[in-house]
Amino acid sequence: MNAMTDIKTDPTDMTDLAIAIAMRGVTKIFGDKPQEALALLQSGKSKAEVQAETNHVVGLDNVSLDIARGQIFVVMGLSGSGKSTLIRHVNRLIEPTAGEIVVNGTDVLKMSLNQLRTYRRTQVAMVFQKFGLMPHRSVIDNVAYGLEVRGVPKAERLKEAAKWIEIVGLSGYEQSRPRQLSGGQQQRVGLARALALDTEIILMDEAFSALDPLIRSGMQDQLIELQKTLGKTILFITHDFDEALKIGDRIAVLKDGAVQQVGKPEDIVLRPANEHIEEFVREVNKARAIHVRSIMERGEHEHCQASVSQDARCEDVLPLFAEHQWVGVQDSDGRQIGRVTAKQVIKAIARHTPGLN
Ligand SMILES: Nc1ncnc2c1ncn2[C@@H]1O[C@H](COP(=O)(O)OP(=O)(O)OP(=O)(O)O)[C@@H](O)[C@H]1O
Ligand SMILES: [Mg+2]
Repeated sequence: MNAMTDIKTDPTDMTDLAIAIAMRGVTKIFGDKPQEALALLQSGKSKAEVQAETNHVVGLDNVSLDIARGQIFVVMGLSGSGKSTLIRHVNRLIEPTAGEIVVNGTDVLKMSLNQLRTYRRTQVAMVFQKFGLMPHRSVIDNVAYGLEVRGVPKAERLKEAAKWIEIVGLSGYEQSRPRQLSGGQQQRVGLARALALDTEIILMDEAFSALDPLIRSGMQDQLIELQKTLGKTILFITHDFDEALKIGDRIAVLKDGAVQQVGKPEDIVLRPANEHIEEFVREVNKARAIHVRSIMERGEHEHCQASVSQDARCEDVLPLFAEHQWVGVQDSDGRQIGRVTAKQVIKAIARHTPGLN
């Protein structure tokens, strides 16, 4: 049982954002008599203890999350931590044992079957890890499938599908079958299919995990780039911390079905809430993960000769210290909003390295 008071949530920059998906105390117990196991969990027993005593599996343990509209929210955790269970609650492929899920103000659990069908067709699209394409359909028919189900006329849906195929970089492959494509290409088809539905919310369960590292990195870049113009609400599941840091506006870390920490990537890297998260943080390239703006001295200072943008990471600023003591940090209008020294950067990068600090 996780006590909400233990969870470190940084509420800054959330106050003005509309919430697209709200999960409130969501608990999922797998098994025939979940209520008995639920009572044990709520009395403070761990997932392992509940399993030993009742043979029931705790999928999620009292999960409360606010997922803001227009953000990429990443849920990160090891295998079995409950990531797929969590994401499947959002489109109600799984019903919770306790708790509620509210999407754009509507309680998902109170929807009738008809409402649920409409909800799945128009509000939430899903991209799967194993692509989930229909092998006998061409690429364009795969991409157009969701629109076909929705009853969109053929000419219109093919036009829409062709548009998304072009955006994900697959022009020329419209008539190919999925088996004629590489893994990365197939995943692009899956992404185009979800995007073609034009839902506000996209659920991505380990969507890039089956890809080679380079292709995967390319897909991450493409998603970030697309998101700049699309502004979707994306719930992205991964077990890869580097991937989470790269694409997440916010990240929740799950363990044994319980949320361990929620925050911006930097919050997690700079202030890991517990040892479990520290273990992940130890392995990451902190120079890449930490933005200069999160460690700079804010305020008006003398103009610095060298400067970087506020989006720069520590690794971008390091070379400048060979020539300069101070490096300015500029906002998008080119105004200096703060400055950093090599010492500050090194301190941030070194903070959680064993043996230092
Ligand atoms: N249908 C089910 N019946 C029983 N237990 C289940 C079921 N689905 C999931 N579980 C259990 O719930 C827990 C969470 O599983 P889940 O699939 O959500 O993990 P995950 O984080 O997605 O893992 P992975 O990274 O391997 O996909 C696990 O202990 C799993 O064994
Ligand atoms: Mg999973």
